[in-house]
Amino acid sequence: DYIKNRRPGSFPPGPRAFPIVGNLFTVDYNRTHESLTQVTDRYGDVYSLRMGQTWIVVLNRFDVLKEALVDQGDVLADRPNLPLLQDISQGLGVIFSNGKIWKQQRRFALSTLKHFGFGKKSLKPVILEEFSYCAKEFKSHKGKPFDPHLILNNAVSNIICSLVFGHRFEYGDEKFMELMSWFGKGLELEASIWAQLYNSFPLLMRRLPGPHQTVQHIWNSVKDFIRVEVKEHKHNWDPSDNRDYIDCYLSEIQMEQGPENLVVCVFDLFLAGSETTSTTLRWAFLYMVKYPEIQAKVQAEIDKVVGTSRQPSMEDRADLPYTDAVIHEIQRMSNIVPLSLPHVTTRDIRLGGYTIPKVMTIIPNLTSVLFDKNEWETPDAFNPGHFLNPEGKFVKRAAFIPFSAGKRVCLGENLARMELFLFFTSLMQHFTFSMPAGVKPVMDFRFGITLSPLPYEVCLTSR
Ligand code: HEM
Repeated sequence: DYIKNRRPGSFPPGPRAFPIVGNLFTVDYNRTHESLTQVTDRYGDVYSLRMGQTWIVVLNRFDVLKEALVDQGDVLADRPNLPLLQDISQGLGVIFSNGKIWKQQRRFALSTLKHFGFGKKSLKPVILEEFSYCAKEFKSHKGKPFDPHLILNNAVSNIICSLVFGHRFEYGDEKFMELMSWFGKGLELEASIWAQLYNSFPLLMRRLPGPHQTVQHIWNSVKDFIRVEVKEHKHNWDPSDNRDYIDCYLSEIQMEQGPENLVVCVFDLFLAGSETTSTTLRWAFLYMVKYPEIQAKVQAEIDKVVGTSRQPSMEDRADLPYTDAVIHEIQRMSNIVPLSLPHVTTRDIRLGGYTIPKVMTIIPNLTSVLFDKNEWETPDAFNPGHFLNPEGKFVKRAAFIPFSAGKRVCLGENLARMELFLFFTSLMQHFTFSMPAGVKPVMDFRFGITLSPLPYEVCLTSR
């Protein structure tokens, strides 16, 4: 019934849907998150759009997102069946699976990350060692302008690689570099108009050439890369010594879920764990060069608390409230996953006075929360004060939800926060960041599942 042009009676309102394409072209796909946030001015915090033949509901602002994802979380724990995502995940893995497979994979991934990351085998030395390689590479540019993108990607990705594959990749490893550039491209294409068209008209689009075919090709190449790693693991596997996630998987659940599920799980952790944190750090560099006075204040705090002779540790965080606030503000402003990932209703639910039927795709618009003028004193300006009280102590803010919320909340949140903290403080401890002479930082983004800065060059001077 919803596949009609008109909205059913108690269904959320929204802009007029056109025949066949619906609201596909209501949205500016170069800045989808901003387009979707603007629609609230006219239609409120819960509204609907028709993408081709399928209705979706966009949820906006903290109260609505909390009511939906947390208070009624059970109804929204599943992912929708979107053709482009299904072609790749086949319902397996962690990110796009549902039901029993999702529960099992999520629990297993969390406990394995915890075991390797925060338990006996702490990740801290892995991160700090990776930082040393990264710093050496940065130093080799001797303060001259360079684009830090690939090195950062490689460095951050190496953390999840150590967890999952049990080893890191050398900077400049060609195959790995190619893989990293695919991640960025793949995530961009996933959120493009092509992906929308594919998801709306899969039977037609499957037969047509275009970027929606490229994205399949990209993800398949990533899977092939993972298959080689899995094969090597099986080859020299010793059940009495689990080295990493793949080993644990082989000992614990392979029998039940089969080998393809392992490939998709690794794919999910690898992708989600690489692109997000490194993109956040690329934004961090830009904010630090844009606001040198904030950078100087961070460095002064680190110098005072950590000094220059030892590496920072997680225990320092409580004594570095300003630095912690700056990291939070970087995450808020850079808004890395602007529309979170899609959810689907498994039952009818009431939200904001409307009835949303079951099997409806739901977009949690995190942008509407992270930039809400009712939540933040200066929503559009970089202001570490958002996370500080008048005494300069760190304060948590409920509307800080870059990792989303509820049952599908980012599985890597703790890992990401640890990576961001240790990398950022170590970088600030060792380097001063500036733009090449005469160049101004450009804060524009490229829209995709993740928001990334445009390519830029930066100068890192040793301190
Ligand atoms: C899901 C953000 C880093 C693994 C998500 C979601 C967001 C997010 C918004 C979707 C939540 C939802 O569906 O409502 C971020 C940000 C990161 C980050 C901002 C870094 C700054 C990581 C890392 C990992 C990771 C390092 C590595 C393990 C995952 C996984 C999911 C996920 C596996 C899917 C969870 C599920 O469907 O149950 N993340 N993430 N993320 N993230 Fe992250």
